[in-house]
Amino acid sequence: MNRQIIAGVIEWAEEIGDPSLDALRAGGVATAARWAAQRGVSMSSHPRHLAVIVDAAGGEGEIDRRAMFGAQVAATLRAQRAHEADRVLADAPVRVLPEQVTDGSNEVRVVELNLPDGSTSVGYHKPFDGIESDVAAAFGDTMPAQPMREVAAWHVARLLGPSVSRYVAPSVLREVSYPPDEFYSRERIRTGSLSRHVPGASLSLTWEHEVPAEQVDTLAFFDAVIGNQDRHRGNVFWDAQTRSLGAFDHGYAFARSAEEDLLNDSLFLEKRIADGRAPLTKDEIEALRAFSARIGEVTPLLDSDRAENMRRRVETMLRTRRLPDVHVL
Ligand SMILES: Nc1ncnc2c1ncn2[C@@H]1O[C@H](COP(=O)(O)OP(=O)(O)OP(=O)(O)O)[C@@H](O)[C@H]1O
Ligand SMILES: [Mg+2]
Repeated sequence: MNRQIIAGVIEWAEEIGDPSLDALRAGGVATAARWAAQRGVSMSSHPRHLAVIVDAAGGEGEIDRRAMFGAQVAATLRAQRAHEADRVLADAPVRVLPEQVTDGSNEVRVVELNLPDGSTSVGYHKPFDGIESDVAAAFGDTMPAQPMREVAAWHVARLLGPSVSRYVAPSVLREVSYPPDEFYSRERIRTGSLSRHVPGASLSLTWEHEVPAEQVDTLAFFDAVIGNQDRHRGNVFWDAQTRSLGAFDHGYAFARSAEEDLLNDSLFLEKRIADGRAPLTKDEIEALRAFSARIGEVTPLLDSDRAENMRRRVETMLRTRRLPDVHVL
């Protein structure tokens, strides 16, 4: 298993062209662990790193999340290079702003991006080493995989087509240089997800009266596909000017069918089902078929048990032609 862990870390280092590649190849697991730790990823041993997976035939197997981790990072970096807009987000010069985000459980920093056309834009950086580990443990995580899920959710939105992706914040994985602060005397490079700013504010208590049913239904569909566990009123913005939703914070999407997971926990899914619109539309079935054919573009970014659950969710939705019930796979 140690060899697999090292191989995953080397794949990640190759992907970013890290100069310590030779040392990593020559070194053992301690070298790989140190390299990963410098990027905010702890490789410490813990029995919960082992996850049980059930294959399609019902057979059980074990996977070590640490062994997959480096390869997931590498796959994420690779996937985002396939799209011009993502490359821009991943490569644009970026500056951490002093502004602090206080309404989340993880460390999230506001950054300013300088885009190639000379304009600036705001983004939100969620570094691996700023993830709140108690919350992560409550969601059954043993590795800080949130940033990869943020990016994977964006790729799912894109693969479902523009009618879905227009309501979802684009997200990439990238390094950002943090200036010295009260705790660190030197600049630090931190890796994490970077999502593009969506305008607006959290949904009001009476959001049902404002948001058009078509947008509710679209995000219900999206949340069902990504197996969202965390779509509360604070993880989506409503822009009253353009009358449009903007969804972000997909760090805890891609639920497994494990006991501790809150499957399909989404206010949009609840609303759409309560209003009697659980059957999928023709367009949704078509989008799901197209997604199913290209699902392999997203699964390498995810833990294999989470990816397997998404495959099953998509198959079930295509077979039943309806949304899953809330809290059911
Ligand atoms: N793409 C975005 N557009 C606009 N605001 C954003 C975006 N991403 C993050 N934010 C702001 O930063 C806050 C924290 O981000 P986010 O919800 O992703 O973090 P979190 O710590 O994972 O939250 P939670 O506690 O819900 O798990 C959000 O509540 C929102 O105010
Ligand atoms: Mg949040």
